[in-house]
Amino acid sequence: MTTITGIAALRARLDTERAAGRTVGFVPTMGYLHAGHASLMTRARAETDVVIVSIFVNPLQFAAGEDLAAYPHDLAADTAMAQAEGVDVLFVPTEAEMYPDGVVHTSVRVMQVSAGLEASTRPTHFDGVATVVAKLFAIVGTCRAYFGEKDFQQIAVVRRMVRDLSVPVEVVACPTQRDPDGLALSSRNSYLLDAERAVAPVLHAALLAGRMAIDAGEVNPAKVRALMADLISAEPLAHLDYAEVVDAATLQTVDPLAGELRLLAAARFGRARLIDNIGAEV
Ligand code: PAF
Repeated sequence: MTTITGIAALRARLDTERAAGRTVGFVPTMGYLHAGHASLMTRARAETDVVIVSIFVNPLQFAAGEDLAAYPHDLAADTAMAQAEGVDVLFVPTEAEMYPDGVVHTSVRVMQVSAGLEASTRPTHFDGVATVVAKLFAIVGTCRAYFGEKDFQQIAVVRRMVRDLSVPVEVVACPTQRDPDGLALSSRNSYLLDAERAVAPVLHAALLAGRMAIDAGEVNPAKVRALMADLISAEPLAHLDYAEVVDAATLQTVDPLAGELRLLAAARFGRARLIDNIGAEV
């Protein structure tokens, strides 16, 4: 595995690989890699010839007061995991390499799917995500890019951006990886104190309860929302941000519930703001 820090060097390497007829698989990350990331690397390794993982904690997607400065990092452990997963190239650019002027005058904004849900408490988050992902795709070039479904709204934003801007990237959504008690794997789980970790699976449990209600015939979105919200709010260490059920493709409310749906929830447990989602169908 080669570690590359420069954009020009990465482009040169990947252009050479593609010129030789090899396909590129790309796993964009912010580091502090866990088994969820490993599953993306495994899939990329199985489906493409050259696997590249990027590690870059993108300041554009953090608002003032969020956890940018505290975001966990462990490059040695990340390097070991990427190596063990058979990754070919680790791209670890500095902030100066990515944003050499220190300020960015171009922003990519994806309408509709960026609104609501995460944006209700993080209104600028998806502009930052779409901008850095557009930049990373411009650097990496034609590839298949692998994203975890835990960040379901992020995948919708990236898919829409790729479609609208004709970016030569195929977006591959991969299932959320969970601990045995249902907690979705996330780098931010490392913020949880023991007591918070013990109750954090309530997020997944609430989503499952919402899906059970839909499976039992409930088509009123307000009732499903309330059921999930009440379960999360009943846990004293959980502070609910939202519990929603939306159309899986547009992320818009559907009333009565019909078709492919997504149940999504977000809550804070101490310092950790956690998100999760599952699918359902009527
Ligand atoms: O999901 C993440 O880790 C980040 O949002 C991403 C896609 C790497 C962009 O910074």
